[in-house]
Amino acid sequence: MKVLMINGSRREKGCTFTALSIVAEALKKEGIDSEICFVGKRAVDGTLEALVDELAEKTKSADGFIFASPVYYASPTGEIQVVLDRLFSNSKAELRYKPAASIASARRAGTTATIDVLNKYATINEMPVVSSHYWTMVHGAKAEDVYEDKEGVETLQILGRNMAWLIKSIEAGKKAGIEQPKPSKKERTNFVR
Ligand SMILES: Cc1cc2nc3c(=O)[nH]c(=O)nc-3n(C[C@H](O)[C@H](O)[C@H](O)COP(=O)(O)O)c2cc1C
Repeated sequence: MKVLMINGSRREKGCTFTALSIVAEALKKEGIDSEICFVGKRAVDGTLEALVDELAEKTKSADGFIFASPVYYASPTGEIQVVLDRLFSNSKAELRYKPAASIASARRAGTTATIDVLNKYATINEMPVVSSHYWTMVHGAKAEDVYEDKEGVETLQILGRNMAWLIKSIEAGKKAGIEQPKPSKKERTNFVR
């Protein structure tokens, strides 16, 4: 079983990567693998579609997802948003019914707004959102700062444990004959009509 993690930072091994590594460690303790995929400049250098295709392929075999972003101007990065816009357009069916969580890394502010935006991708696609005992954020300007945010580290460790628990529960449910819901035809109306 595996969790696909998307790092929406421009810095490959910065605070967001550190936050994801903490969750990866907690997942590993529970016997769940993970892979961190770095977005970086690929969202804007003309290789976006190739990146989305790679993520779409990995999505097929993933059992859970973590969307992580530094806070840029009190929001997720444009990079992660464009990647998730494309991924959720293309791979809706492969993402559906699989658990997801979101993480924000900030120097100071904008974390809950960022988490809210990232969680919205999951909540329009029937994906159970995994939580922790606090909002899933860390604070830091440099990668090593994250480890000083003791409460943030613990919050992410609990997130990893909870993600593992839900993935295993869904797997156990399948084995016990609990069927995954079937997507129903969606009524699509415009706001004014
Ligand atoms: C363009 C830009 C905008 C930022 N905007 C915010 C902000 O609104 N609030 C904040 O607390 N930190 C802000 N930061 C700081 C980063 O969110 C913070 O240092 C984060 O932990 C960096 O994660 P990373 O190392 O994975 O890139 C900004 C950084 C950049 C480069």
